[in-house]
Amino acid sequence: MEQGTIIRSIGDYVLRRVNEEDIPSVVSVNLVTLPEHYSDFFYYELLRNFPEGFIVAEKGGKIVGYIMCRIEYGFSFFKFNIVRKGHIVSIAVLAEHRRKGLGEAMMLEAMEAMKKRGCEEAFLEVRVSNHPAISLYKKLGFKEVRRIPFYYRDGEEALVMAKPL
Ligand code: ACO
Ligand code: ZN
Repeated sequence: MEQGTIIRSIGDYVLRRVNEEDIPSVVSVNLVTLPEHYSDFFYYELLRNFPEGFIVAEKGGKIVGYIMCRIEYGFSFFKFNIVRKGHIVSIAVLAEHRRKGLGEAMMLEAMEAMKKRGCEEAFLEVRVSNHPAISLYKKLGFKEVRRIPFYYRDGEEALVMAKPL
C-alpha cells in the first residue's frame, strides 16, 4: 500500500494513509487539540518507522484528525515474555468533527496495521482526566494495566491502557 492510499470512507470523510506533505496539517491538528507537542522530526520518524500506522481523516481535502503509532519491543502487559507491541503515540480529531466515529475508525485501522506487522498487543498512555479518550479506548477493549504518576509535564498522572490484538 502506497502513502496516501484511501483506506475507507465514513460519510463525507475519508481515512487514508498519511503523506509526507500532510505532516504540517497533522502538526496543526495536534497543536489545537492536545497539550503534548512533538518536533517535526518526530512525525517524519514515525512515518518512516510505521507508515501503515499513521492515518489521517480528511473532509473536502482538509485534514481533521490523525493517529500515529510506533512499533516497539518490550515486556508484555499480559504474559511473561518479550513481545512486539503497537504503541498509539497520539490520536486527535478537531473538536467540530468529533463523535462521528472517526477516532474509533482510525484506532481500528491502526490496530489492523499493527497485527499485520506482527504486533501481539496495542498500548497507549492517556491522562487520567481525559474521559472522552478513556471511553473510546474502553469501548475498543483496552484495559488499564498501570499508572504512571507525574507522566505529563504539568504533573498529571497517566493511565497506561493495553489490549491483546
Ligand atoms: N464522551 C464519552 N464518550 C466518548 C466521547 C465523549 N466526549 N468521545 C468519544 N467517546 C467514546 C464513545 O463510546 C464513542 O462512541 P459513541 O459515539 O457511539 O458513543 C466512541 O468513543 C467513539 O467515538 P468517536 O466518534 O470515534 O471519537 P472521536 O472521533 O470523537 O475522537 C478523540 C475521540 C480522539 C479522543 C477526540 O475526543 C479528541 O480528539 N480529543 C482531544 C485529543 C485527545 O484527547 N486525544 C487522545 C489523547 S491520548 C493518546 O493520544 C494516546
Ligand atoms: Zn505513548
